[in-house]
Amino acid sequence: ISLKPYNTFGIDAKARFFIEINNLEDLKTSLQLKGYPNKFILSGGSNMLITNDIDALVMHINLKGKEVIEENDNTVLLKVMAGENWHQMVLWTLDNGYGGLENMSLIPGNTGTAPIQNIGAYGVELKDNFVSCEAMHTETQSLKTFSKEDCQFGYRDSFFKNEGKGKYIITSVTLQLSKNNHKKNTSYGAIETELENMGISAPTIKDISNAVIAIRQSKLPDPTVLGNSGSFFKNPVINIEDYTKFIAQHPEAPSYKITDESYKIPAGWLIEQCGFKGKRYGDAGIHKDQALVLVNHGNATGQEILDLAFKIIAEVKKKFGINISPEVNIIK
Ligand code: EPU
Repeated sequence: ISLKPYNTFGIDAKARFFIEINNLEDLKTSLQLKGYPNKFILSGGSNMLITNDIDALVMHINLKGKEVIEENDNTVLLKVMAGENWHQMVLWTLDNGYGGLENMSLIPGNTGTAPIQNIGAYGVELKDNFVSCEAMHTETQSLKTFSKEDCQFGYRDSFFKNEGKGKYIITSVTLQLSKNNHKKNTSYGAIETELENMGISAPTIKDISNAVIAIRQSKLPDPTVLGNSGSFFKNPVINIEDYTKFIAQHPEAPSYKITDESYKIPAGWLIEQCGFKGKRYGDAGIHKDQALVLVNHGNATGQEILDLAFKIIAEVKKKFGINISPEVNIIK
């Protein structure tokens, strides 16, 4: 079957076999199938670039359900199954008056993949609300609970991208959210400006969510209209020596201090400076409003998008001496 509807890049790659995983039992029995075919786990398909047909049994994680498992006067513990759409889940929490996820509104993908790259936006990361997740071991099919510490979260990084890679399938995520005295985070410049434009001075969590949605819609393409995987590259972090040289040559460049020794440079800025913003090579292109996002104008193949990514990496390296690397998973 074609995987085009199952990946937000809209790549028309084919799966040799395909199965919908609707409960833990399905997951267990599918994983227990021995030998050929290999197995390939597909969730929201929002952070991957498929470059070839997939000669495997594609297991589409469709585990559904969300439930408040504990609550007191101030907080709730919410357990969400992996196949729940992230943004729909965020809207549901806001409708129930639960705070914490509002800055992460409108991030594509499903809840179960959120911990893998510790999704984040506008000053908040998944780890800020994360309590634990449950995952099934691919070999033994046993379920294990991972604490926040076990997950080793970093910037777009976790245990599941490193030692845990390919070994676990996240089945649910437990989050702690606030019921009152919400800790609001509007320090990310664009949010404040957007709230001002909206004429709001004392924002509710719903207002913050609306502001984030407006900002995202203004510069990030809607994957149902234009295929994409959000930020294609990570923002590079460079050491103080390289930073000092870089900023002397490019005093106008935006940058964020991470530690005394390291600075983050927005890859979108570097790519735009190389002249790529809005460019199109066949059906593969760079988004016109956000150079960090690669787009599929219709029928680009995964390989064409990957070739464009390599071209951009090489150009940024040549112009700035900085290495940028993909944030999305490249499926070879
Ligand atoms: N910039 C440019 N040109 C561009 C894009 C950005 O000059 O084409 C400059 C902006 O002017 C700004 C800076 O780069 O000074 C940062 O831009 P922006 O606030 O749009 O954020 P970003 O660094 O490009 C990151 C995340 C996004 C997240 C936003 C907001 C990564 C890889 N990306 O993007 O995450 O939504 O911050 O928090 O960290 C994603 O991971 O898929 C994603 C969309």
